[in-house]
Amino acid sequence: MSFRVLGTGSYAPPNVVTNDDLSQFLDTSDEWIQQRVGIKERHFSVNETAADMAAKAAQAAIENSGVDPEEIDLIILATITGETQVPSTACMVQKLLGLKCMALEINAACSAFDFALETVAGYFARGKVRKALVIGTERMSRILDFTDRGTAVIFGDGAGALVLEAGENYIDSVFYVEGNDEVIGCGLPVGNSPYYERGQEKKPLAYMDGQATFKFAVTAIVKDCNTLMERNGLTYDDIAYIVPHQANKRIIDFASKKLKVPDGKFTINIDKCGNTSSASIPMMLDDLNRAGKLKEGDLLLLPAFGGGLASACCLLRW
Ligand code: COA
Repeated sequence: MSFRVLGTGSYAPPNVVTNDDLSQFLDTSDEWIQQRVGIKERHFSVNETAADMAAKAAQAAIENSGVDPEEIDLIILATITGETQVPSTACMVQKLLGLKCMALEINAACSAFDFALETVAGYFARGKVRKALVIGTERMSRILDFTDRGTAVIFGDGAGALVLEAGENYIDSVFYVEGNDEVIGCGLPVGNSPYYERGQEKKPLAYMDGQATFKFAVTAIVKDCNTLMERNGLTYDDIAYIVPHQANKRIIDFASKKLKVPDGKFTINIDKCGNTSSASIPMMLDDLNRAGKLKEGDLLLLPAFGGGLASACCLLRW
């Protein structure tokens, strides 16, 4: 027993920031960003928290599913950009939705939505929950260094959510973790301990080695997708869509070429929302669902990768 998807929802804050807007204070250009990353614009929150955005995406998913919110027994939320360490963003979303259920959070950076799906599958397997909400939400603008053109132009804010019930549609998954704080990371502020030895702490802003990340990402997508194909006796003709983490359109294009899948099989929406980290896969799923592109029985691959370093891929039947 695992789960099946009953509904999807997403939310992006209304403040749209174009590449030209960023070029006002960063040494960059619309042409460079579109060519090297594939982003035209992204949404940056002015006053909405990761919890606020998550609650709106979750509300949309609940409406889309037709489920009575009282039946939701679990919220699993992925984020790295909550406002507080305690309470977790998951707890704040539970409050905003007016639910009484269990709520917990997962930090696996940009791969976290897949880690959340795997975790929720365990709850369904044990028969512990009737319905569950799985959410990815990120206010990336909260941790971006807006003086660093290598990272500031890539990310965006938003949230995506799925409502799930027990079923057999989560077919297989693969996970990889390689502890490494040099390629991608973000520190936390240090308090005022007189015992804390200063000088080793990381700045509380996102940092990234772009080229190392790029190589890791392409290798991970290819390896993880192929593993699931081989293990399940499938070919890419059997897959309706590959819904990857939206980090860079060139990463997706490279992986697509290496896997020799036809154009259009990899879905892309990074042009209008940037890299929203753990929110990118559920936001993309919601786009596809609301556009009527997903048919019952469609097989989907959800490859993800990012900080950790971590990568993951889930095979899901719609
Ligand atoms: N605008 C203009 N120029 C920029 C720039 C920007 N926003 N960012 C970097 N550059 C410059 C660099 O300074 C460098 O200039 P130089 O040749 O004068 O030194 C040049 O562009 C090439 O830099 P490089 O780092 O080789 O670019 P790149 O082609 O690797 O693209 C990234 C940079 C960050 C877009 C790319 O490496 C990338 O997308 N990596 C993966 C990032 C990612 O997916 N992160 C999320 C993981 S979940």
